[in-house]
Amino acid sequence: MKIAILKELWPNETRVAASPETVKKFVDLGLTVTVEKGAGAFAAIGDQDFKNAGATIAVNAVAALKGADIVLKVSRPMMAGEKKDELKAFSKGQILVCHMNALSEPKFVAAMAKAGVDGFAMELMPRITRAQSMDILSSQSNLAGYKAVLDASGHYGRAIPMMMTAAGTVPPARTFVMGVGVAGLQAIATAKRLGAIVTATDVRPATKEQVESLGGTFIAVEDEEFEKAQTAAGYAKEMSAAYKKKQATLIADHIAKQDIVICTALIPGRPAPQLINETMVKSMKPGSVVVDLAVEAGGNCAGAEFGQVVEKHGVTIIGHANTAGRVAEESSKLFSRNLFNFLSPYFDKKTKSLIFDPEDEIIHGTMITKSGAIIHPVLEKQSTAKKKTAAKKKKGG
Ligand code: NAI
Repeated sequence: MKIAILKELWPNETRVAASPETVKKFVDLGLTVTVEKGAGAFAAIGDQDFKNAGATIAVNAVAALKGADIVLKVSRPMMAGEKKDELKAFSKGQILVCHMNALSEPKFVAAMAKAGVDGFAMELMPRITRAQSMDILSSQSNLAGYKAVLDASGHYGRAIPMMMTAAGTVPPARTFVMGVGVAGLQAIATAKRLGAIVTATDVRPATKEQVESLGGTFIAVEDEEFEKAQTAAGYAKEMSAAYKKKQATLIADHIAKQDIVICTALIPGRPAPQLINETMVKSMKPGSVVVDLAVEAGGNCAGAEFGQVVEKHGVTIIGHANTAGRVAEESSKLFSRNLFNFLSPYFDKKTKSLIFDPEDEIIHGTMITKSGAIIHPVLEKQSTAKKKTAAKKKKGG
């Protein structure tokens, strides 16, 4: 079997879906690997590094894709109508494994099905123990949480740790982390290591102990709704308007005293909750910094702009696109390992082929298209509901 690794084309996508380590591991399994020329350039991985690990280098995407059974990417390929129709170069029956935002990109999913590409959406990896080493959301969020604190410190014009000097005492920076999932936990740990006084908030009760175990102080509206805010899958629910109001009152008082705020709050499949309004931004001290990691999903902070660093009311609001990609070498290596850990258990050494069991929870959860059809249960439901609404409309009018 042949694996193709393509160069990423989306703006700000600095990562690559393979590393010399995973190339070697795939080659050791008996697969051949072709990497598109320059694929690792932004992640400090050269063509020669891939060659030394056993890959061949293809001059372009078309050459890399020729004869490939499996295609690995970080972000989904572009389709017709976008900057370049990458999907056009794919062949029927090829397996594509990448982050595809499948639940919110129905047009791409339909195009992939039409092209006959069998797609696996890595962002839909079930959060079960067996799949932890395959979880791209965790590996990338962890690095994003770390980098967010460093980005904040770079824009913050004061020091982070307390320093007692002969010239006087430098006070420690007060850092508030909003949303304590994977990124938030790493942000707390990083800010603590830098010497900040850290507080954090979340709506899931389980996070209280996690914050405290990292040396942070937990702040939240701990009412009845809070007790039930976690879904069976471990994610947060969208909170009621009444809860949001109470939460805003609590946050408003606290945020005015903060120097750095790291926002990471997300709700799967929904826009990110707005936790900081413009009045709260105004209340912050000039020179304070907010990093909004949720900016791609609409943002937690009013005024945050995707891909921009802006100043509002004397506060710097950082809305970098792809924060994990700002530590491209490390994020590529972890992402690549996630892909290898996902594929290798399904590789049958005897037949030298991939055998996916559709009943397997991991396959069932991530497989989006097969032989031209959209087969993911959530997407199937969405498409049936859409058809029903369209039929109703037609009947009614
Ligand atoms: P996420 O990226 O979906 O959300 C980030 C955080 O924002 C979450 O902690 C969420 O509770 C919080 N949030 C949502 N709405 C909020 C609001 N209105 N106010 C304040 N905070 C709000 O979450 P992530 O990082 O993907 O982790 C979710 C859970 O999954 C965690 O419990 C994590 O430990 C667990 N997990 C389990 C894994 C496994 O078992 N394989 C792997 C990775 C994570």
